[in-house]
Amino acid sequence: MSRETKPVLLTGASGALGSMLAARLAEWGWDLVLTDIRPFPGALPARARFRQADLCDRAAIAELASGCGAILHFGGVSTERPFEEVLGPNISGLFHIFEAARLNEARVIFASSNHAIGFHERATPLDDDCELRPDTYYGLSKAYGELMGRLYWYKHGVENISIRIGSAFPKPTTRRMLSSWLSYDDLARMVAAGLRAGDVRCDIVWGASDNTRTFWRNDARERLGWAPEDSADGFAAILDTVVSQDPIEELYQGGHLCSRDYTRKRPPP
Ligand SMILES: NC(=O)c1ccc[n+]([C@@H]2O[C@H](COP(=O)([O-])OP(=O)(O)OC[C@H]3O[C@@H](n4cnc5c(N)ncnc54)[C@H](O)[C@@H]3O)[C@@H](O)[C@H]2O)c1
Repeated sequence: MSRETKPVLLTGASGALGSMLAARLAEWGWDLVLTDIRPFPGALPARARFRQADLCDRAAIAELASGCGAILHFGGVSTERPFEEVLGPNISGLFHIFEAARLNEARVIFASSNHAIGFHERATPLDDDCELRPDTYYGLSKAYGELMGRLYWYKHGVENISIRIGSAFPKPTTRRMLSSWLSYDDLARMVAAGLRAGDVRCDIVWGASDNTRTFWRNDARERLGWAPEDSADGFAAILDTVVSQDPIEELYQGGHLCSRDYTRKRPPP
């Protein structure tokens, strides 16, 4: 059986993005193995099976990934939490995912985040190889995941794509999201393109729709066969004034997670 015809493992399947992806990918014909630490919300999509598991459980992840051709890694702590809470799911969990991918010669598509580079100023356009500047322990775990992708590509040939997701919600709700918004449809099409692509290395893709005010440019999208079709531009008139009163939040790409627990007296030179 070739990689393309094997089942796809989706972690975080009970979450906002995971459950959306489960429905769409099943509709587009993929056989899915779904997992999450929480029960699956609602009815299972056709040709999908679900098993509750903790990403910290290496044996359970290995068993779930057995025979899979790809792992869509969307599970784990998805916002800032104390370091001790991030450590297990987002650091050990990532190791379990990449080890399982190595053993099964599976491709990994990893839900990274703009919070891996959050401490770049909004006025600075970034390329995919920009300096990693995590804004939280959560963002640090995403930077670690991207680097783990490099380790497993150069050492073991594990193909992987890190999607540096901006703001993936049904609609943009703030001025920042006029730059960072990623529609559910664009995300689902990006994941599908990542599963189908012929030439995958350890690639980074900016997870944002076609927003005129984007912070980001230059990534692997063309080689992977993806281009966004949606845009936040149509929301500009209603969102342009939706800003916080926090200067740190408004200065940096990572927004409110940059100002969370911030103790610097003044911004760096
Ligand atoms: N939504 C966004 O805008 C956005 C932006 C950047 C990155 N991301 C990333 O995309 C992924 C999905 O995001 P989401 O918005 O759907 O978040 P979410 O919190 O809705 O989903 C995450 C899922 O992971 C599961 N999970 C947590 N700990 C686990 C553990 N120990 N073992 C197994 N499962 C565990 C949760 O139960 C949850 O269902 C996350 O990795 C998140 O960091 C999302």
